[in-house]
Amino acid sequence: MQNLKFSPRRHGKHGAIGIFLLLVFAACSGTPYTEGERLYKTHCANCHMDDGVGLSALIPPLAGADYLETARDRLPCILKYGLKDTILVNGRQYAEQMPGVPTLSPVHITNILNFINHSWGNSNPPYRLDEVERLLEQCE
Ligand code: HEC
Repeated sequence: MQNLKFSPRRHGKHGAIGIFLLLVFAACSGTPYTEGERLYKTHCANCHMDDGVGLSALIPPLAGADYLETARDRLPCILKYGLKDTILVNGRQYAEQMPGVPTLSPVHITNILNFINHSWGNSNPPYRLDEVERLLEQCE
């Protein structure tokens, strides 16, 4: 007699392996904006464009934007949770909605902001990781 045994195939549960590579911060000597540039292209360039100029009256610019300085402390929260407000950027009003990217870590956010702060002619002071962590605790 044939004994057919159906045992449900179990897929091994691989525990999530947390890989904490603090490469960029451990080795400050390399090119620190590579990670930020990659993340910017993935999450931001669709709207703000590769060269940070934005899109007419809809998307504010990041290149040469005074908002990066005037709202410095708010930027980490804006990247993570988005923005729906009426804001002034270089004297021009913007009132569309920006979606946040909640999966961004403090390291990601630090790298994106520092890439922006040093691209397209911008030269704003860099963010430190502990500063971004502290600011993220104060969102809303
Ligand atoms: C779907 C389009 C869209 C995406 C994607 C997007 N933004 Fe925005 N962003 C906007 C809009 C629209 C505003 C203005 C929001 C408002 O008026 O409330 C804005 C505002 C901003 C501001 C403040 C104003 C300024 O120009 O300085 C910053 C900084 C910013 N975005 C950075 C980013 C970064 C970094 C990313 C990627 C993590 C990103 N945005 C992704 C549309 C977008």
